[in-house]
Amino acid sequence: MAVIENAKVTVVGAGAVGSATAYALMIRGSAREVVLYDIDEKRASAEALDLAHGAMFTGASEVTGTSNIERTAASHVIVVTAGAAQRPGQTRLELVETNARIMASLIPSLVEASPRAIVIIVSNPCDVLATLAVEQTGADPARMFASGCVLDTSRLRRAIAIRAQVDPRSVHAHIIGEHGDSEFPLWSSARIGPLPVEDWGEQFTPEELEAIATEVRTAAYTIIEGKGATNYAIGLSSTRIVEAVLRDERAILPVSTVLSGTLGVDGVALSLPSIVGSAGAVPLDRIRLSDAEQELLARSAATLGETAAAVRA
Ligand code: 2OP
Repeated sequence: MAVIENAKVTVVGAGAVGSATAYALMIRGSAREVVLYDIDEKRASAEALDLAHGAMFTGASEVTGTSNIERTAASHVIVVTAGAAQRPGQTRLELVETNARIMASLIPSLVEASPRAIVIIVSNPCDVLATLAVEQTGADPARMFASGCVLDTSRLRRAIAIRAQVDPRSVHAHIIGEHGDSEFPLWSSARIGPLPVEDWGEQFTPEELEAIATEVRTAAYTIIEGKGATNYAIGLSSTRIVEAVLRDERAILPVSTVLSGTLGVDGVALSLPSIVGSAGAVPLDRIRLSDAEQELLARSAATLGETAAAVRA
């Protein structure tokens, strides 16, 4: 597969997350064409026009807004952000009934209009929604997956970098599992440059590592409490994934794909470090987990599996 030139990206949902994603795509010049789709034509058009007015200051992206799914046709990548967002104190999993219905009504027509598109589901609970969407459409799990723990991993790397006083881009650590309350850091493979995190210094005692994990796991609740939603960092995270696809980077990112036995997880989407390129997302299947990490992964998979089963019932 090759780098996709003059790419068309559709962002579904012109709310806080969708608009932030379109904004990030435009600022970074990730795609030649960005279509912002929403059932609310007025909202989609106004958000797109406000973005397009910045065209003189950004890369060559044409941004348009529409409520007509036909205008999304032949997209290379579709980023789905539509649906209800968490209210203060609400878990992502509690959104599943509402957002599963929205996904079920949207995904088939989006995929019909863009049969070759890579679909990235950002709406929450993104892992469960990706699982259900793959089941509903029969899509290849590599080509229909969730943004998963890419954002959480950025939060983790920042938290480590601040304590170590280094650039977050020199921290190699991942959050895996559910994009939600059962997520956890892969401390067994976390590095700052060439050093294991726990060898870096006294900042990283077992108690501090637990504090970092909690800080990351609760980050969204803190922000939602303060401003009602998160949007900028999830917009940048989604854009990062889109770029890895369009540029065929084969970047390793912890996106959430439906697994078939990897690390004992079957039939559930959750985040593992995955190779992301123009063929979509392929999870690494040779990751070595500590016994404790394996147990946490099984617990995360069970939570997600139970939630998906409740929706199917
Ligand atoms: C986040 O983690 C709410 O899932 C969103 O920011």
